[in-house]
Amino acid sequence: MISARQGREGQYSLSESEFQFICELVYNSTGIVLDGRKREMLYRRLMRRTRELGLASFSEYCELLKQKDNDELPNFTNAITTNLTSFFRESHHFDYLTNEFIPELMNCNRRAEDAGRRLRIWSSASSTGEEAYSIAMTVMNAMGSSITDWDVRILATDLDSDVVEVGRGGVYKLERVRDLDIDLKRSWMTKGRGDNGGLVKMSQELMDLIVFKQLNLLHKWPISGPFDVIFCRNVLIYFDRETQEKLIPRFYDLLRPGGLLFLGHSESILKDNKNFESLGKTIYRKLEA
Ligand SMILES: C[S@@+](CC[C@H](N)C(=O)[O-])C[C@H]1O[C@@H](n2cnc3c(N)ncnc32)[C@H](O)[C@@H]1O
Repeated sequence: MISARQGREGQYSLSESEFQFICELVYNSTGIVLDGRKREMLYRRLMRRTRELGLASFSEYCELLKQKDNDELPNFTNAITTNLTSFFRESHHFDYLTNEFIPELMNCNRRAEDAGRRLRIWSSASSTGEEAYSIAMTVMNAMGSSITDWDVRILATDLDSDVVEVGRGGVYKLERVRDLDIDLKRSWMTKGRGDNGGLVKMSQELMDLIVFKQLNLLHKWPISGPFDVIFCRNVLIYFDRETQEKLIPRFYDLLRPGGLLFLGHSESILKDNKNFESLGKTIYRKLEA
């Protein structure tokens, strides 16, 4: 094995021009802005990919990426994304759904009749799926037996096709759910045995609510709304202001009036945005046009 130090000194070094090329490619294909602080991380992840492909140098990997119609781009973007997530991350959003949004939705007779008791939620940077399953558990628990009267669908999308596949599989390491409420685990998960020891599988009922798809937020969204709730959490921070300002109106267009946009803890939409009212704790409600 070549250590990072040896690598930097030998054929696996990442030159300044290669670093700039990679940053530009990442920005143009994902919207993610990288700077010098990410150099080490980038180097480690792309070195792994360079070796997997059996290439002799990092320059060869860059040459491959420069080739017209190369099919490496999806693997490249999968390698550079940061997929940190967890079940019920930023739990106040799930509390808000349970205590405010879903009871209000269910008590609203006009909406129930007019909209045919339809609930649509989009987890738009879903990573390995924990966010989508947390939404599904929240909806199931909050609606109780009434859920059978409702047409509920959760769409979970991410740029990274590897994490989308993990979400679709619905299998996680036991340690990922260790701190969850015991009733949640009993109701919605099955512990693996034998070869599957140390794993937990999401229940079929949850899996049936969610559709997982690969989707790049920068590209066209082949999806039809309107959505009642959109989660776009902990991804805007990777984008520059220009990209963020392009995305927020697109979420607006896909939400129904009164629908909610949830952002991550260090994200916000601009204060002078007249299209949303802030409900606090990075929850935004779409105002009537
Ligand atoms: C840090 S995770 C956040 C996961 C989850 N929303 C949460 O808050 O726990 C960020 C996710 O955004 C995805 N992502 C990055 N750029 C994207 C893009 N242009 N389109 C869609 N997803 C993107 C990454 O693949 C990654 O899984």
